[in-house]
Amino acid sequence: MISKGITVFAPATIGNAGSGFDVIGIAIDKPGDIVVASRSKQPGLHFSLRVSSREVPPDLSNVAAHVAQLMLDEFKPGFGIDLTLHKKMPVGSGLGSSAASSVAAVVAVNALLPKPLKRVDLLRFALEGERLASGSIHADNAAPSLLGGAQLVRSYTPLDVVALPVRNTILWVVIHPHLVVRTEDARSVLPATVPMQSAIRQWGNVGGLVAGLARGDASLVGRSTEDVVAEPVRAKLVSGFHEVRDAALEAGAFGCTLSGSGPAMFAVASSLQSAKKIAAAMKKTFARVANAKADAFISRINMRGATIIRS
Ligand code: HSE
Repeated sequence: MISKGITVFAPATIGNAGSGFDVIGIAIDKPGDIVVASRSKQPGLHFSLRVSSREVPPDLSNVAAHVAQLMLDEFKPGFGIDLTLHKKMPVGSGLGSSAASSVAAVVAVNALLPKPLKRVDLLRFALEGERLASGSIHADNAAPSLLGGAQLVRSYTPLDVVALPVRNTILWVVIHPHLVVRTEDARSVLPATVPMQSAIRQWGNVGGLVAGLARGDASLVGRSTEDVVAEPVRAKLVSGFHEVRDAALEAGAFGCTLSGSGPAMFAVASSLQSAKKIAAAMKKTFARVANAKADAFISRINMRGATIIRS
């Protein structure tokens, strides 16, 4: 238990990791959100927001307040909490922005409780942030942001999250174009059913993804990111998607698709040199085709997840 103040960083995530729609996600090093929290003599939650990007509407960022309040309601710790969200991540990005805010908040509040819960037991609170943000519960961002690594949501009812074995050699190139796609909108275009042939292809790819992560096999992971369920209907929400993917593959990527519900895209590389070349090609293509500036992040899998950076 920490009685004074605490600062927590929660990282961005690649939801779905391509073929693992709603069931596989990985944490990356940056960007991420930061929460600073401390105990207060005044009961209840005192929430404030510091926004570093013009693109972040403050009203979408209070998932952190929501999940913190849920924890206070359940645990009634006998003191209040001052909580400030330093919103570093863009919303509607496909980088798990709402999950990072929720995760940073639950980890911070937890550390201030007289009897903190285990990390994994915080997931159910973080998921309420996802419900608030997108209207549905999906754990493929919150689980890796909270727990680090590559996480598999084997089941939602009951919730069963499995840390996948990872040989952490692959480089993940994440490109965030300055476009916004709301997860809620990207979920509304999904098909209600999946043809059997697509399902067979998809679960072959999910198995390939799991095996490729364990082996650190960039080629296997790259080809297993193929997503025949969500990507076909979501690609049209991201201006330049096909051209950017072609550019990534041309530059040497082993695979490239949407990160989460987009518009961010990720590509798979086996060396830093190749990753940099792929990132440059993807950024240039977003600028040319979609007239969109873009940020690039190159990372191995972040095995730590949310981190207490000061206490
Ligand atoms: N699995 C979620 C989706 C991730 O694809 O809708 C959202 O970032």
